[in-house]
Amino acid sequence: MNHLVKAIDNRISRRTYIDNPVDSKKIEKLFSLVDKYNQEGKLQMELIVEGGDAFSKLSRSYGFFKNVHTILAMKGKTNDSYVCEKLGFYGELLVLEATLLGLGTCWVGGSFDRKSQVFHVEKDEILPYVITVGECLDEKSFREKLIHGLSHQRSTKVEDLIVASGNINKLPIEFIEAMKAVHKAPSAMNSQPVRFEYTNGEVYAHHKNPSVKDSVDLGIAKAHFIVKAGGSFEWGNGGKWLK
Ligand SMILES: Cc1cc2nc3c(=O)[nH]c(=O)nc-3n(C[C@H](O)[C@H](O)[C@H](O)COP(=O)(O)O)c2cc1C
Repeated sequence: MNHLVKAIDNRISRRTYIDNPVDSKKIEKLFSLVDKYNQEGKLQMELIVEGGDAFSKLSRSYGFFKNVHTILAMKGKTNDSYVCEKLGFYGELLVLEATLLGLGTCWVGGSFDRKSQVFHVEKDEILPYVITVGECLDEKSFREKLIHGLSHQRSTKVEDLIVASGNINKLPIEFIEAMKAVHKAPSAMNSQPVRFEYTNGEVYAHHKNPSVKDSVDLGIAKAHFIVKAGGSFEWGNGGKWLK
């Protein structure tokens, strides 16, 4: 997963896309990654190449997004206790892969039409999020700059995400570097709700307000940690890093 480190530095949420379909080679690559991660995580994520209908209503919140064509429908089974955390983890790996392909992305929790005909959600499945994916201009649009500014008013430092007893400057450099990667992770409303605890050489990831849906941010933060530091994480709030 180390190949994704560069994408962590380059990724920011993009909401204005070029009004063209995504290049077919990139789509092919994304299809195969969705397949791979669905098998690994026992998820039902779906790449919908023409999913713009879910963003076509002219309400204010849908209006944050422009020219949405391709979306990832983040679906999983309701009886999977870690479903949202896993969607966060594997969805963020897909976001970083898409970033490496030169595509813009944005996680979306609120502002899309769940009832759109583009979705096929079985009775035993949930669709808490989508991720928009598309080609973008290098320069952010005026609207994007505005939304970015609004969602980044509060500034959290890397240290704020760390829980450790003793002198924070004495923590291993490997851990600090992984925390810098976590600091760059997207989160719902930029709330950055996940803390990493370092105790006697062990690392645990905690969500401040663990609800099923919010645990998507826990999965996203764990993905960024692992891309930088390697190893894996136990699922669940308070899950331990296994190296
Ligand atoms: C789970 C999740 C849900 C999100 N939902 C929305 C949304 O509904 N609308 C939106 O414009 N941005 C949404 N975002 C994007 C965040 O606002 C964005 O990640 C955050 O402000 C940090 O900015 P950055 O991604 O550019 O670093 C969501 C992000 C996450 C991780």
